[in-house]
Order: sequence, then structure tokens, then C-alpha cells
Amino acid sequence: MNPVKIGLLGLGTVGGGTATVLKRNAEEISRRVGRDIVVSHVATLDLDRVDELGLNHGIKATQEAADVVNDPDIDIVVELIGGYSPAKELVLQAIENGKHIVTANKALIAMHGNEIFAKAQEKGVMVAFEAAVAGGIPIIKAMREGLSANHIEWLAGIINGTGNFILTEMRDKGRDFADVLAEAQALGYAEADPTFDIEGIDAAHKLSILSSLAYGIPLQFDKTYTEGISNITPEDVEYASELGYRIKHLGIARRTTQGIEQRVHPTMIPERRLIANVDGVMNAVLVQGDAVGPTLYYGAGAGDEPTASAVVADIIDVARALTADPNNRVPHLAFQPDLLADTPILPMSNIQTAFYLRICAEDKPGVLAEMTKILGDRNISIEAIIQKEPNDDKATIIMLTHIVREGDMDDAIETLEALDIVCGKITRIRVESLG
Ligand code: HSE
Repeated sequence: MNPVKIGLLGLGTVGGGTATVLKRNAEEISRRVGRDIVVSHVATLDLDRVDELGLNHGIKATQEAADVVNDPDIDIVVELIGGYSPAKELVLQAIENGKHIVTANKALIAMHGNEIFAKAQEKGVMVAFEAAVAGGIPIIKAMREGLSANHIEWLAGIINGTGNFILTEMRDKGRDFADVLAEAQALGYAEADPTFDIEGIDAAHKLSILSSLAYGIPLQFDKTYTEGISNITPEDVEYASELGYRIKHLGIARRTTQGIEQRVHPTMIPERRLIANVDGVMNAVLVQGDAVGPTLYYGAGAGDEPTASAVVADIIDVARALTADPNNRVPHLAFQPDLLADTPILPMSNIQTAFYLRICAEDKPGVLAEMTKILGDRNISIEAIIQKEPNDDKATIIMLTHIVREGDMDDAIETLEALDIVCGKITRIRVESLG
């Protein structure tokens, strides 16, 4: 049988890893597929990479990505450029040309996936994006196929390796935020714009994809609540630990009777949970299905070959399905495209969670009573309270609350911050038991 011909857009970290894995495991891959898979055309701004990666045997190389997209010999375009544009235009043109797509681009799928999938459906081609979420962990396949019997109750994921690496190093070694970030950049884990990692945008891209797969709703990245880790202080990390918790930057999607919670923020979770012990650049996704119960998926969420593992698996999947009936393929968003639901994504004020509060207050009689009254008046019940040794007549008060409506907590915090006895802003971290 003729080989399947690949056009590769981008030979950076993931592109290089993909070329290397395809070459090293070529014999085994062709035994799995029943056909050879060959990279026949690559686009890269740095043409020296072609030699560096040992791809210089009869391969076409160009600096113009459009040459690959418009090459009639290519069966599958593998987009590993990243970012919104020109990736979107190139992918749409490739689909127009009848080519199947494999991409690791979470930003592209989260922002433009609805349009891209509609176009792919129209043209009868596949768009595979396993590497877009949690690098090498086959979470898309698990959600779309392995868990397809389940009603997904909730999922929670550590889906940004750079953020997890930073929080882990801060906790274990007391390292400086900027220093850890620089190391993640040098190792090729961080995004081109590292604020995407730190401010939760990268995790929000990935969460909106997972949420759509879980609940059969269109991609809605713009409705994802996104809060980063840049305000987490070493004190909060230490107090969380004293209380038996770890702070993780989680993406959470949960189905409620009113709608779907879709949120990314620092979260305190009990340290006894397996996911609380996922450290460094590793990713993990915990999925609670009604039939299967909790399932946990763990592995490398970034890096050249771990991400290439997912890219190449997608290439193999597409190569195997090249001759399959387009109407009987696994749907892009796990549910049939004409049966997606319009379940609303809930505004943050309507979500329910417990809270950790760190409050700086004057150390004098009646202060605690005044503060707890404000919480009590809003039906906010306190689970634990600790007052730290006062310093200059100022005390640090740590409170853990029971589960409350976020809107009530917003109101309580605003009222507390307006008191003369409270100094500065109150730190809040949402607490999830994940039980
Ligand atoms: N910047 C991402 C991370 C890379 O740190 O997880 C993988 O998507």
C-alpha cells in the first residue's frame, strides 16, 4: 500500500520531537497502521533544523507553510506552529484542500475549534488534537471513547506543567518565582508568552476543550473563569500545608442543575488526594463519571517527545481511519455535531465552593466577632479559624469556610475590606475536597 504522506508545519520543540519519534519508531508504527508513514514536506523558518533532525533524505523543505498546505501529495497536515494566526488560516486552507489535520494547538482549538470542526465536517476530513491537552496523556481519547458510557459529573486537572512546576518548587525549595519560570522556559515547557502559563490562559484553553468533550457543548473559551498563580505567596503555601492542604492550579468543570462550572484558579486540595501529589512539570486529570467513579490520568504534560507521543498517536489514528466512512468516525467533540447542547456556562457568582481566607486585622477585642458576624449574616459557615502571632498590633487570621455561593463570598469580602480593623486586601483561595 502507498505510504501515508505527512506535511509538518513547524520544527520547534514538538515538531522536532514528532519527526524524531516517527523516524525512530517507523518500523513499529507501520506494523500498527499497516502502511508506512513518511514525512515528505516540512515548513520551518530555520532550515538548518532539517539537517539537525536528520530529515534530509529526499524530503521537501520550505520556509513557506502554505507550500505544504497546498502540496497535492500530502495526506495529513500536522500543525505544530502554535498560536492563533497564521495557524488558523493554514488549517482552514488545508481542510479546504481536503487534507486531514493533526494539531497540538490548544489555543487554536479552544478559540476557533467550532469553526474548524464545522469546516472539517463539511469536507469529510478529520481534525485530531490529542496533544492539545495535557501533552502525552491520552485524555482526549479517554474522554471521547473510554468514558463514553458515563455521565461526567466533574473533572479537575493540573493541565499546565509550567504553573505546577513553579508551585512545586516554591513549596519544596522556597525558590523564587522568576527563577523557576526561567528554568521552565529553558526546558521548553513554557508558552512563547509565559503569561499564558502563569495567568491561567493556557489552562483555560485546555479546560474549555475538556469541558466540551465532557458535556457535549460547543467550545466556549471566552466564558471560562481564569485566575493565575501570580498572587500566591509563600505564606499561603505554608498555611495551606499547616492545614493539611496543597495549593494546585486547577482547571475544573462541573455539571450542576443550573449549568456548567468552567473555571481555572489556584485551588487548595487535601494533601491526601493523589492529584495533590502530582508535582513538577507533570499533569494529571481526575474525571468523575457516574458509572466508573473517579479515574485519574497522569503523565508528562509538555516537552518534545511526550507531546510527540500524542501527535504521532493522532497521525496513526488518522492513517488508520483514512478509508473509514466520514459519518461513522468518532465525533470531534465526543457528541454528534448536530446534537450539541446549549447548557449554559455559569457565571462565577453562581458557583459553589469552600474558601480559605487570609485576613490582616487589628489585634484588639471584638475584631473576630465583628468579622464572623459579617460572614454569618451571609450564611457563610466557618469550618476552621486560626489566628497567627500578632506583629505590630496586626494579626493574620486564617479561615476555612464550608461550601458557599461565590456571590455571597464576594459580598462578605467587600464588606470586610471596608472595615477599619481590616488592613489591605483579603486573600481568598477556593478549596475543593475532590472527594
Ligand atoms: N506551556 C504548557 C505547559 C505546554 O506548561 O503545560 C504544554 O501545553
